[in-house]
Amino acid sequence: MPDLTETDLAETVGRLTIGEKAALCSGADMWHTVAIPRLGIGSIMVADGPHGLRVQPNAADHSSARTSLPATCFPTAAALASTWNTALIDRVGIAIASEARAQGITVVLGPGVNIKRSLLCGRNFEYFSEDPYLAGTAATAFVNGVQSQGIGTSLKHFAVNNQETDRMRVSAEVHERALREIYLAAFEQCVKQAAPWTVMCAYNRVNGTYASEHHWLLTGVLRDEWGFGGLVVSDWGAVHDRVAALAAGLDLEMPPDLERSPAAVVAAVEAGRLDEAVLDRAVGRVLELVGRADAPGRREPREPQEQPEPCDFEAHHELARQAAAEGAVLLKNSSVLPLAPASGATVAVIGEFARKPRYQGAGSSRVNPVRVENFLDEFTARVGDQVTVRFAPGFELAGDEVDEDAADQAMSAAAGADYIILLLGLPGRAESEGYDRDHIDLPRNQISLLRRLRTAGPPVIVVLSNGGVVDVASWDADADAILECWLGGQAGAGAAAQLLLGQAEPAGRLAETIPRRLADSPAFLNFPGEDGEVHYGEGIFVGYRYYDARSIEVAYPFGFGLSYTTFGYGELTVRSSGSADAGDLEVRVGCRVTNTGQRSGSEVVQLYVGQQDPAIERPVRELRGFAKVDLAPGAAEMVWFTLGRRDFACWSTARSGWTVPPGRYEVAVGSSSRDLKLTAMIEIDGSTGARRPLDGRSTLEEWLADPDGRSALMRAAGSGSDGRPNGILADANRMRVSGNIPLRQFAVFPGTGITYELLDAVRAELGPPK
Ligand code: BGC
Repeated sequence: MPDLTETDLAETVGRLTIGEKAALCSGADMWHTVAIPRLGIGSIMVADGPHGLRVQPNAADHSSARTSLPATCFPTAAALASTWNTALIDRVGIAIASEARAQGITVVLGPGVNIKRSLLCGRNFEYFSEDPYLAGTAATAFVNGVQSQGIGTSLKHFAVNNQETDRMRVSAEVHERALREIYLAAFEQCVKQAAPWTVMCAYNRVNGTYASEHHWLLTGVLRDEWGFGGLVVSDWGAVHDRVAALAAGLDLEMPPDLERSPAAVVAAVEAGRLDEAVLDRAVGRVLELVGRADAPGRREPREPQEQPEPCDFEAHHELARQAAAEGAVLLKNSSVLPLAPASGATVAVIGEFARKPRYQGAGSSRVNPVRVENFLDEFTARVGDQVTVRFAPGFELAGDEVDEDAADQAMSAAAGADYIILLLGLPGRAESEGYDRDHIDLPRNQISLLRRLRTAGPPVIVVLSNGGVVDVASWDADADAILECWLGGQAGAGAAAQLLLGQAEPAGRLAETIPRRLADSPAFLNFPGEDGEVHYGEGIFVGYRYYDARSIEVAYPFGFGLSYTTFGYGELTVRSSGSADAGDLEVRVGCRVTNTGQRSGSEVVQLYVGQQDPAIERPVRELRGFAKVDLAPGAAEMVWFTLGRRDFACWSTARSGWTVPPGRYEVAVGSSSRDLKLTAMIEIDGSTGARRPLDGRSTLEEWLADPDGRSALMRAAGSGSDGRPNGILADANRMRVSGNIPLRQFAVFPGTGITYELLDAVRAELGPPK
């Protein structure tokens, strides 16, 4: 049913029976929507996922363990976000869309934009960042890329799905301010800037209510506030009560609970418990989605069992390699990289990962890759015949026990070599969708091997593969260089070889902090919760916001990453116009970046903003912009950012809105959250926003802080013969001591000077609360 107008839509909905409507909102099977042939309504197919397609040819099959159709496995979100390169992420989205089109898929189930709250979340590899702006920007680029090709996306998991433990029931207990500033912000940005075709609700509960039945989230915030016009789909199996979910704003249940859901919906409409208009709206959204698949210029969706259309897997492999190379973060380099092995040199490549790469995570995002590179072959091919490459596995991936024989062989391979390249990381069993980690350490056998190899003599270059952050601080001193490759997709091994040899320039930056210890991390005492609840006790202080607020030393800060060249910063310019109150505040920030080294390279210029001496708790600084610039040696570029009101705002729960506290703000540019090269102060004027209405429950302090309240109070208290207040209001020290007592309570105590008569007089003067 191509190109639906609103009239077509209403007309089609009007021709459906209640049973057909209920069926349309429940899907046909694991991956398809329901077709209604008598009205020409087709069915569409959806598939995971965020870094490559997982099209299960058998519709009844959800299991990622069984083979899906071959697809390009791009770097996981953890690696993609570390590129800080939106154009590149956009291109990855375009490539995934072209594979989706070839395989008859209408909606790609990604990206996952949940915040990395705890280092231990088993699914951190599938998420972008600890920072909502970076996560939201990466998600926006991905969605724009995919959707530019006429393929839809599903922004997931809405919302506050930050752990795998008890994920289908746990209630994330989180205050609204943290929700707004941290957990919803990336969704908000992507919904407003990229309009994903669908949003997928989370499994968990949010403050006691299942996300799938959360009217405030799915309708109040998502649609009414942010203007989302697409379809809300459930996470697979997230619906508990189909009728409640529909009423909350969940349009499509996947997979369908065929035994119960359609019948329950029909019964609820017939009994008048569910307004048919609510069902009609959901049906309309399903029809619109199906209609988008048939939009002019699109081919008919094809069954995936058929031979897929050819797509350019070679080009996608190259793109996957480029993304992997840009997403790898060079953490340490004691002048050993880039390697330039002379003719006749020997390089020892140690570690089972060199021939059995770990390049993607486990669970619903698992791709059946078109092909997979391994480091040993890629490195050997790149150094050529003049260099000897010796290999030893060094350790097993199946267990953590130290295998002395394997370690001895590794020592022999390393003896007399010019360099040791040691591939370490998390084995597949260490992290997955479905469960969380309980520590961040690398397996014992790997660390023990590193310590032995350290004594062999040659410089040790560690190449890491892991989805979530691993401890680095405890062994950092035993490595001369460390390259963090995350889970870099099917071409990650070639990318790592290129980077070590200087055939590609390291340009990745950390999208998440690597702390010195797990115990330093923000959610340490509040993860993964107990008795079905997890308390987000750290509030807005997630990731670097926490480490900065507490001045905690970290191993490698958010935004950090080395290059083979160096950069200079200068000419910081900050110009502001408009006002926060009027909503047209605009701050232009510019700086000049120069490549001061001998090689080409890319710098990620990061812009942070932080209020000075805020009256309420606020992060020391927050990322509000970034730009990646490629510069030849000696070249310079002026980089510009535009900040608006929201960039200075925080969420006020009392006022139910974004407010900009007036005051001094530091604007800083730099190459990491802890390496700010240039800073400037700006003054943001404005009122503190609409005042809270004062009444008897307002404290003395609140009355005194409000100019009108203060003068009304003082006037009423001074209405005696000498005109001066008496009791507490005459005594600054007593006012301070009693400042947090609600005004009405004073009337109970004799001698305070605050009586019921005085309260009545003040109320009369101020009028009813506005
Ligand atoms: C995951 C989703 C995924 C869905 C379909 C769920 O278990 O949480 O991210 O898209 O399955 O495979």
